[in-house]
Amino acid sequence: MTNLERVYNFLEEVQSYSLATVEGDQPRVRVFGTILCYGGKLYIQTGKKKDVAKQLYANPKAEIVSCKGPEWLRITCKLIENDDRNIRVAMLEKIPSLRAMYNEDDGNMTMFEIADATATFSSFTAPSETIKF
Ligand SMILES: Cc1cc2nc3c(=O)[nH]c(=O)nc-3n(C[C@H](O)[C@H](O)[C@H](O)COP(=O)(O)O)c2cc1C
Repeated sequence: MTNLERVYNFLEEVQSYSLATVEGDQPRVRVFGTILCYGGKLYIQTGKKKDVAKQLYANPKAEIVSCKGPEWLRITCKLIENDDRNIRVAMLEKIPSLRAMYNEDDGNMTMFEIADATATFSSFTAPSETIKF
């Protein structure tokens, strides 16, 4: 399994994670759930109109944390928007219920690549492991 697959599998299994961005000197955090593996990269989905997207346009630095029982995963990364329509289509094919709020051509739905990522897998029962992907 590649490092990227390990991260994808963790987030896919847990189905939700907290996504932190910064707005000036103020941290902002919210619950997210979307994760897509496409072309050997990981992407998350959001709306261009949301504050989270506006924060990422101004400063792409982000952190993701997700917890599975006694294990947790923290990803330090940049989230870089990718406007490739095929990625939006792949996201909507993976989670068709997103179509209640978005479509690939609505001018709002957008995808951010998890780039320059360092991920640490931690546990109360084993040493932490840090990987890059
Ligand atoms: C379980 C769960 C998963 C969510 N997943 C996403 C997601 O993947 N993308 C998204 O844009 N919003 C998602 N949301 C909604 C955001 O948490 C919500 O819109 C939030 O207010 C966005 O942050 P912002 O207000 O700072 O822009 C999810 C909410 C929940 C409860």
